[in-house]
Amino acid sequence: MNWKTHITKITRTRYPLIMAAFARLGVIEFAASFSNAGGLGIVTALNYELSNFKKKLQKMQELTDKPFGVNLTVIPTGIGFSNANITNEDYLRYLEVALNEGVNIFTTSAYQATFLGERIHETGCYWFHKCALMRHALSAEKVGADAITLIGMEAAGFKNPYQHTTLVNLTMAKKLLNIPVIAAGGIGDGRGFLGALAMGAEAVCLGTAILTTEESPLLPQMKEDWLNTDIFSEDYHRKLYHLTLGPTRVPSSAIGFQRKIIPLKNLIRNIINEAEEILNSWGFAKEEFNTLSK
Ligand SMILES: Cc1cc2nc3c(=O)[nH]c(=O)nc-3n(C[C@H](O)[C@H](O)[C@H](O)COP(=O)(O)O)c2cc1C
Repeated sequence: MNWKTHITKITRTRYPLIMAAFARLGVIEFAASFSNAGGLGIVTALNYELSNFKKKLQKMQELTDKPFGVNLTVIPTGIGFSNANITNEDYLRYLEVALNEGVNIFTTSAYQATFLGERIHETGCYWFHKCALMRHALSAEKVGADAITLIGMEAAGFKNPYQHTTLVNLTMAKKLLNIPVIAAGGIGDGRGFLGALAMGAEAVCLGTAILTTEESPLLPQMKEDWLNTDIFSEDYHRKLYHLTLGPTRVPSSAIGFQRKIIPLKNLIRNIINEAEEILNSWGFAKEEFNTLSK
């Protein structure tokens, strides 16, 4: 089945799937595997020294001939990058290196990133901003973001105490925003992927779900520990929905769908196969899933 959405139109990827940004883990080899599997691999820029970044992007282009993007996380304290004192000028330097290497899709995240969005647009490239609250999504749309990734409270990563669920985010965003929305938070199987598209998302951002794959640079012991997570325990619930401003120390509920360490391309294939099987079981017999008319 062909998957056509407002986001795949921009990204030119086979599937409406976007890799999450990851401090320490969002490296070129992992991102290239994601792109090669049909999604949009994302290189998290701050994992590299500025002086090394150009070489890494050139290496990325050897690892994949498929589209990929670059993330610039406007750092909240405690997120885990070593480069904690980075200035706006430094972010713009990273951006310039990526632009010079031909990158044309950028994801920004965490704090306000208009200063980056403006430069991205000057060069005719695309700017997707990721945020946790609807009011931040609305203001990013106002200042020109091309798409918004809205993170539900099911997600791992840096949390805001006033986050809503992925369901509330997506169904409301479809009514409140005019630009495409990318779903993030707790998605890790075909049903969740398809459900997010049905709720109004134009693509899905995969974080936790891909971190226990073979290609993920997460430590092997950590992968095993994560795969043994009981997402229905009270302790886990307390840690995931901690309702404080700060990083989350557990994988998101998307870990519940992962059984063992498998190649990333199999995980993505499984998600797509399951979604296609569900569509078929509902009597959807078309060769193309297409959201462009809505
Ligand atoms: C280990 C880890 C590191 C992360 N690092 C970042 C980061 O540096 N920048 C960022 O914007 N988001 C970061 N995130 C959040 C993800 O990009 C994404 O929003 C989140 O994982 C989506 O929810 P999910 O895990 O349920 O798929 C991180 C998440 C994890 C699990």
